[in-house]
Amino acid sequence: MGRRKSKASHSIPNSGEVSKDNSDLGNSNESTMVEVSNISALPSSTLASSPCSEAVGSDHTSADYYFDSYGHFGIHEEMLKDSVRTKTYQNAIYQNAFLFKDKVVLDVGAGTGILSLFCAKTGAKHVYAVECSIMADTAIEIVKANGYSNVVTVLKGKVEEIELPSKVDVIISEWMGYFLLFENMVNSVLFARDKWLVPGGAVLPDRTSLYLTAIEDADYKLDKIDFWKNVYGFDMSCVRKQAMLEPLVDTVDQNQIVTNCQLLKTMDIEKMDSRDVSFSAPFKLVAQRNDYVHALVAYFDVSFTKCHKPIGFSTGPRSRPTHWKQTVLYLEDDLTMCEGEAVTGTMSVSLNSKNPRDIDIKLTYHFNGKRSQASRTQEYRMR
Ligand SMILES: C[S@@+](CC[C@H](N)C(=O)[O-])C[C@H]1O[C@@H](n2cnc3c(N)ncnc32)[C@H](O)[C@@H]1O
Repeated sequence: MGRRKSKASHSIPNSGEVSKDNSDLGNSNESTMVEVSNISALPSSTLASSPCSEAVGSDHTSADYYFDSYGHFGIHEEMLKDSVRTKTYQNAIYQNAFLFKDKVVLDVGAGTGILSLFCAKTGAKHVYAVECSIMADTAIEIVKANGYSNVVTVLKGKVEEIELPSKVDVIISEWMGYFLLFENMVNSVLFARDKWLVPGGAVLPDRTSLYLTAIEDADYKLDKIDFWKNVYGFDMSCVRKQAMLEPLVDTVDQNQIVTNCQLLKTMDIEKMDSRDVSFSAPFKLVAQRNDYVHALVAYFDVSFTKCHKPIGFSTGPRSRPTHWKQTVLYLEDDLTMCEGEAVTGTMSVSLNSKNPRDIDIKLTYHFNGKRSQASRTQEYRMR
């Protein structure tokens, strides 16, 4: 199929636009920009050096690299240029000023401060922009350069560790990772919600759904997975096993889709519990034509249901591409599916016990078709 494969190493959430061609979805304010090192309104815990900056040293873990990766402007450039992502947030904020006007807002994981600036521009009373990477220093400069220092306060630190002078009316965050949950930043948003949101306050976006479909992908499976079976005459199947364990993040051509798309899980960010991040969901994927199936593909939708007119975007293969692309899980068995036949099973998703930013996926599938049969459990790990 000639599509490019990439690895989910350091994930970055990807994208947003108000619009949906998504067939899958259904001024200057002056003065007191207070740098964290000068904040008087905040307790001294806020002034401690950022946990992110503590990551610099010889003892890096993958969690440290997670924060470090957001310290470089390149990753923010990629996210900002994802116009599906950034435009959706912009439209959700600008077209719904009633949600922000005169409200106190918390931006969880502010990065460059773009979402905080959108909120400030639309009339927020005050915005706390919390960012744990060194990008917080840059956000301070950006806020100042745009004249919003009296409205936006950038706090450098983890949202779990900072202190605010008051509770907030609205939480905004772009926390989604590859496969929705990679990075597990949603738990930081839930923490902020429980600690800092006033009763009845809003979390934006407030709804996400994870979907599954099945694709034909013979060429790529042969080139990247089965390649290891015979490398210049040598058996390197042990590497094939490793390749099969790792979901691949890449853009899938919609013509590869063989079955329906099945909703696996919907998360209501205002109500969910951090334990809901781990779940098990059944699926039934029915072939819409005669074809071979080589992989299952996961993707997610994001919605701002509090808006005057609901706004959102999809990261599915039938929608405009985002930096999240899709997540491809190769099957050991190639399924020969006839139109109307179904592959059924269960997908279980859990946080890895050693590094909760990594995701463990267990897939059980059964197929009893006229022309092929298969029944198997496979495990994958996003890291
Ligand atoms: C996907 S980026 C979004 C950046 C920005 N909001 C935007 O939309 O362009 C997520 C940001 O959250 C930060 N972050 C992740 N976990 C955090 C935490 N627990 N506390 C504070 N910031 C966090 C990361 O460093 C990263 O810059």
